[in-house]
Amino acid sequence: MNIDLFSPVNLSSYSLPNRIVMAPMTRLRATDSIPQSLMATYYTQRASAGLIVTECTMVSPMSNGYMNCPGIYSPEQIVGWQQVTDAVHKAGGKIFLQLWHCGRISHSSLLNGKQPVAPSAKAPVGELHTPVGKVTMETPRALEKSEISEIVEQFRVGAENAKAANFDGIELHGAFGYLIDQFLQDGSNQRTDEYGGSIENRARFLLEIVEAVSSVWGAERVGVKLSPSNTFYGMVDSNPQATFSYVLEALNAISLAYVHLMEPNETDLKNRAVLNPVTPLFRPIYHGTLITNGNYTKDSANAALANGQADIVSFGKSFLANPDLPERFKQNAPLNEPDFQTFYSSGEEGYIDYPFLT
Ligand SMILES: Cc1cc2nc3c(=O)[nH]c(=O)nc-3n(C[C@H](O)[C@H](O)[C@H](O)COP(=O)(O)O)c2cc1C
Repeated sequence: MNIDLFSPVNLSSYSLPNRIVMAPMTRLRATDSIPQSLMATYYTQRASAGLIVTECTMVSPMSNGYMNCPGIYSPEQIVGWQQVTDAVHKAGGKIFLQLWHCGRISHSSLLNGKQPVAPSAKAPVGELHTPVGKVTMETPRALEKSEISEIVEQFRVGAENAKAANFDGIELHGAFGYLIDQFLQDGSNQRTDEYGGSIENRARFLLEIVEAVSSVWGAERVGVKLSPSNTFYGMVDSNPQATFSYVLEALNAISLAYVHLMEPNETDLKNRAVLNPVTPLFRPIYHGTLITNGNYTKDSANAALANGQADIVSFGKSFLANPDLPERFKQNAPLNEPDFQTFYSSGEEGYIDYPFLT
């Protein structure tokens, strides 16, 4: 049987009606880190996805990298998310929460005056929008070993809170140059203790978090997003193929819901030599459910599914701009174009006003 985007698929104990996942996308519409009813409307509009993965969500105040990001560490945030999950479930959808710590991708003005933290005191490359305007990112402070276990615990509590907020599972944000990725790659991790140096040591933080959140959800409700070719914020690894092969082999031993692999984007390809394409390289290594992501169209996604490169495909920008993306794919209907100006703005415009097919 030819597998395509409309072939149903089992993901842990869930049967998804299609293989079209909505990729996690930060939209900065929370108020004081609390999800609002506007966010419930946005996600519910997209409930025809086989699975929605939410925007990255802070596990602690120190994980804050952007203004108006939501969190999952306070009772008010849990209640805020409950309105989102309730509405998505009523519309027949499934939704995983993406748990996140920004690490060095932050600024003291977002952290109550505190210095951002990271595996090592190495500044990221780039600028950030903050309450004091656009700033060059600061050099972070290297985490003490005792603080690392505190962060692992924050992820565990975040996983518990996600359960209280009635999510269907969680995804760990191990991609795009944030804290977990900062530990994985040796350009940002220059520690000399058991969290740095060898690949095994650099993967320890991720694997400890996987274990901690799996103790809450069971591994089969936990996904992990990775981006072996990401160059965002100056990310680099001396041997990404070896690093990510090790990580995926280690994850084979744990029956996760899925691994979510990002292909390089245009900027990555321009920045420097990167692994490209990513998914066919790692498919033989990872034996569980694999979601591939990055610039897919309906046709290229169907091709990736048909040739067995991935089990599921996630769509970011095209889902942002097309709340009824599965229906549009089904009908071969034209797609709305995403409006980059409103990706990270505020309010309804460019958020809940993209038209549905009539
Ligand atoms: C507005 C926007 C916000 C994003 N925020 C996140 C995020 O919070 N977490 C994450 O893992 N990826 C994030 N991404 C990356 C997407 O999940 C996806 O990997 C990327 O857009 C490539 O997929 P696409 O080509 O289908 O858009 C974001 C992308 C966009 C466009």
